[in-house]
Amino acid sequence: MVKKIDIKPAKGKLGIMTPGLGAVSTTFMAGVFRIRKNLSKPFGSVSQMQTIRLGGRDEKRSPLIRDFVPLADLRDIEFAAWDIFDDNAYEAAVKAGVLESKHLEDVKDELEKIKPLKAVFDRKFIHNIDGPNKKEGSKWEMAQQVREDIKKFKSEKNLDRVVIVWCGSTEVHIEKHPVHESLESFEDVLKNDDEWISPSMIYAYAAIMEGVPYANGAPHLTTDIPALEKLAEQKGVPVSGNDFKTGQTLMKTVVAPGLKARMLGLKGWFSTNILGNRDGLVLDDPGSFKSKEISKKSALDFIFQPDMYPDLYKDAYHKVRINYYPPKGDDKEGWDHIDIFGWLGYPMQIKLNFLCKDSILAAPIVLDLALFMDLAQRAGFKGIQEWLSFYFKAPLHAPELYPEHDLFIQHTKLKNTLRHMMGEELITHLGLKYYDVKE
Ligand SMILES: NC(=O)c1ccc[n+]([C@@H]2O[C@H](COP(=O)([O-])OP(=O)(O)OC[C@H]3O[C@@H](n4cnc5c(N)ncnc54)[C@H](O)[C@@H]3O)[C@@H](O)[C@H]2O)c1
Repeated sequence: MVKKIDIKPAKGKLGIMTPGLGAVSTTFMAGVFRIRKNLSKPFGSVSQMQTIRLGGRDEKRSPLIRDFVPLADLRDIEFAAWDIFDDNAYEAAVKAGVLESKHLEDVKDELEKIKPLKAVFDRKFIHNIDGPNKKEGSKWEMAQQVREDIKKFKSEKNLDRVVIVWCGSTEVHIEKHPVHESLESFEDVLKNDDEWISPSMIYAYAAIMEGVPYANGAPHLTTDIPALEKLAEQKGVPVSGNDFKTGQTLMKTVVAPGLKARMLGLKGWFSTNILGNRDGLVLDDPGSFKSKEISKKSALDFIFQPDMYPDLYKDAYHKVRINYYPPKGDDKEGWDHIDIFGWLGYPMQIKLNFLCKDSILAAPIVLDLALFMDLAQRAGFKGIQEWLSFYFKAPLHAPELYPEHDLFIQHTKLKNTLRHMMGEELITHLGLKYYDVKE
């Protein structure tokens, strides 16, 4: 018998705060309001729609995940956000142009009430946009202001717990720096307004100091620095990231494990896409694109393991392009041209043309992450939540490990972690017992 972990109940209300009130966050919030009113179903959300098998296949025990683990109820959620623009969530959703007005009007009153808090912003980290709704003061002072925002939200809405999911724009790529090594040096440079501290690090620092779990939906460096990782451990706060796995990378991590499972070789993989939303505008800047490129490119290397399978994958050529094309709006179009080879080296091609809606794919991820991060904290999990890799393009991982990118392994890990939490046997898929063979 496996021992169940002691998980605190999901009593009271959960606050979900998002730095960024743009396409993803407003699509997420509008969706939750619609679902609460029974106007829509939570398609794409594993926490809401998926079942989990418990025990053998002959036991026929497959509850919904949300009935199996103690998750916050959607009716008990309150939202808040920070943004550099002062549009409320309804106005921001209209501008983002993801949801049609017929879907927004039903939840207009709820969305209008969400007015963005003043943002921590620095043009050095995001070049292509600027707005009026910003905090003032030193970086240290702004970190304290974010802590105040969290406390105020908690007391005004009478919340039991809060989680933060970064839904803001992608910051420019920066490397880890010695000042990120320890909490002392991090706080020192925070007080000295050092250029090595990004706005997202300020939100994350404030969140962890307030005991609030933090998930990073963008590819930039935030909690994956020793100072914040250690702080999260010390404070018992879960962190996860980086970069929501949607669109093209989702498809990559579906197709690549299949090719590898069948030992089909890869000559090259060219991915290009066009998108025209504000995210695309920010990614049009080379610094922000660099963050995205690194995050998008790493998946294939780790899935194919070219060092282990040099004949199949060592010389594979991989290129990723993102092109800002305003007429597309949030309707991204991605093309993947994949050159593979099989028996005797005979070449074959796969072409993928994914006409996706970025924020429609990202919104249920925000919901699942918020609910699972809250669950993790109540279960006493802290620091990096590798079991949530399923949702990320560049999953955080312990320094001595390589990240797991294979969607199917990530999925098994996620479900086995839930079984582990609840004291259920992990599923190995061995299944010999059905054939009268001793396991
Ligand atoms: N949509 C997807 O499928 C997807 C997938 C993976 C990652 N992402 C990432 O999610 C993030 C959000 O995407 P989106 O499509 O909603 O973008 P968006 O441009 O519509 O929204 C981002 C918002 O963040 C605001 N912002 C920028 N810097 C901020 C700061 N320091 N503090 C507070 N607000 C700030 C912007 O003003 C903007 O309103 C982006 O970083 C994007 O790269 C999106």
